[in-house]
This record gives sequence, structure tokens and C-alpha cells, in this order.
Amino acid sequence: MSYNVLMKNLHGKKAFIAGIADDRGYGWAIAKALAEQGCQIIIGTWVPLFDIFKKSLDNGKLDTNLDNGEMLKIAKIYPLDASFDTMDEVPASVLENKRYREKKDFAIADVARLVEQDFGNIDFLIHSLANAPEIKKPLSETSRQGYLDAVSNSSYSFVSLAAHFANNMHAGGTILNLSYLAAQRAIPGYGGGMSSAKAALESDTKTLAYELGRKFELRVNSISAGPLSSRAATAIGGIDAMIEFSETHAPLVHPLSAADVGKTAAFLCSDGAKSITGSTIFVDNGLHIMGPCPAREEEVKCPPRKDHESLLHPAPL
Ligand SMILES: NC(=O)c1ccc[n+]([C@@H]2O[C@H](COP(=O)([O-])OP(=O)(O)OC[C@H]3O[C@@H](n4cnc5c(N)ncnc54)[C@H](O)[C@@H]3O)[C@@H](O)[C@H]2O)c1
Repeated sequence: MSYNVLMKNLHGKKAFIAGIADDRGYGWAIAKALAEQGCQIIIGTWVPLFDIFKKSLDNGKLDTNLDNGEMLKIAKIYPLDASFDTMDEVPASVLENKRYREKKDFAIADVARLVEQDFGNIDFLIHSLANAPEIKKPLSETSRQGYLDAVSNSSYSFVSLAAHFANNMHAGGTILNLSYLAAQRAIPGYGGGMSSAKAALESDTKTLAYELGRKFELRVNSISAGPLSSRAATAIGGIDAMIEFSETHAPLVHPLSAADVGKTAAFLCSDGAKSITGSTIFVDNGLHIMGPCPAREEEVKCPPRKDHESLLHPAPL
């Protein structure tokens, strides 16, 4: 049975995805997977990258074919800075910055209001953004401000988006965020308070699932994704080594793709997941279950890829 038939399709539904500025990250893959189910896509793009992203969309650089042969259409993009809840909080130094100067209404409350004005109630809210100014520093060397910025940009932004959008979402809708294994395990190199931010995100997923489930009949879930060489991950450094580690040690040998996360997000938005809330779902080829096992490495090592051809390219049933 095909994936499309297994999931009730999302025709006529509307998703707002916060945190897309190119076609390399998890946000774009989620947009594509939702659009493939017939969902309308609305995007919030970080203000400094808004003009360049809009230009790339307008001149066709990001043209993407969907499985059904149609092109991915973006209904509208809004400039967003998820570090601010209202425009009153934006400091003069930011307002005067050349990338912000011409933009208005980019705080979370304003974007939520504009989306409601333009599209009415939405069905899905996806948080696919993170930012920690000191990410390259180990946690033990991170300043108080660096830590607070990481949590503000990457976790409180989720709480605030959920709070501002929930009132304008249809009952039965879904709110999702993207987490990482560093929330639950020590991952060297994932510094600057980002591990703390992801732990907060997963914890808030549970509390918001309760609160917004009771109040609005909304579901709230987190996808803990494996490593992907997105723009953000490339900027942190070491992403290629993380991907190689995952491919060497994870239970599943096929390369993890952004589309795998996109399809899980589409499933979590679908009726098939209508009783799943407050969960962190790992989409990482199973890497999170592994413990260290150096003494018996020969037993756990993957055979060379060519022996796995049938898994990588299964014959049609
Ligand atoms: N790439 C990975 O290996 C990986 C693994 C697990 C989880 N994730 C998570 O996936 C999500 C998407 O990241 P990605 O890796 O796909 O990279 P990405 O670069 O595609 O997405 C991150 C986005 O966050 C935006 N952003 C940063 N600060 C913002 C702000 N203040 N307001 C609004 N937008 C802001 C950036 O412009 C960018 O578009 C993040 O939450 C990330 O932590 C990534």
C-alpha cells in the first residue's frame, strides 16, 4: 500500500513553518512532504535572510518537484525574528540594522496576527529553527548571555509561537519542533547552551501537549532528527564527521535524508497520528539506542555498503 494511501491526505490544510531560508534544511523537507499531501505552505523566514530567500524563490532557484509531478508552491513568506514576541522588545540597534531597517511586524505576535488575517485558522505549526551565538564553545565555557540567547532563540521561541498561534488553529491540529540527541546524551561539540535548549524543547513539548491538548485539542510533538548537513549545521562545524559516525554506528545503514524527517512530520500531522502527543520521535536510523561497544567492534561493524545494495535499493514488491 502506498504512503499516500496509508496516510489520510492533508488536502485543504494549512501549515505555517518557521525557520526556512533555503532548500537544504529540515524545514524545506517538511514543507515538501506536507505539500505532497495537499497541504498549503506558509513560511516564516529569519529577517536577515528574508530578501535572499525571497529572491531565490522568485527567480526559480529553489524550484522543487513534488512526487505527484506538481511544483512545490509557497503561499506566502513572512519576515520573522523568533527572538522577539512583540515589536516593542526589538532594540534600536536591531531596528537600525540594514537587514531589518525596511522590515515591519516581524515579531512573533505580529506574524501570528498577519497569518490569521491572510489565511484564517491554520492546522499545523512547525518550529524548525535554532540559534546559539556561542555554539562553538563547550557548555562549561559558555557565558550566561550566550546560554540565555540559545534558550531564548531556540526554545522559548517555540513556546511563544505555540502560544500565539494556538488560538488560531483548528482543533485536531498539530504543533511540531525539531530536536537533537544532545537533549538526552552528551554530544561533544554541540555547545553554547544548545544541548540545554534542546532539553528544554523536549520538556516543553510535554507540558504544552497537556496544556494545549486540554484547551484547544491540539497535539504537540518533537522530532529528534539525526545529523544533516544543513546551512545551520555546516556553520557549527564537524557535521560531516557526525554523519559518518552515524552511518558507521546506527542500526540502519541507508543514508538518512531530510525527506525521512519530512515524511515523519507529515505523518505526525496526519489523522494516523491523532492519538500521538507529547512525544519525542527519533528519526535518526536508530542511532539513539546505541551504547559504546569498542571491545566487540568486529561483530557490530556494518558490512561494506555494496553488500547492502538490496536494502539501499529494494526491488519493487
Ligand atoms: N541539521 C542537523 O543535523 C539537525 C539535527 C537535529 C535537529 N536539527 C534541528 O532542525 C531545525 C532546523 O535546522 P536545520 O539544521 O535544518 O538548519 P537550517 O539552517 O535549514 O534551519 C535553521 C533556521 O533557523 C533560522 N533562524 C535562526 N535564528 C532565527 C530567529 N531568531 N528567528 C527565525 N528564524 C531563525 C535560520 O535562518 C534557518 O533558516 C533546528 O531546530 C535544528 O536544531 C538539525
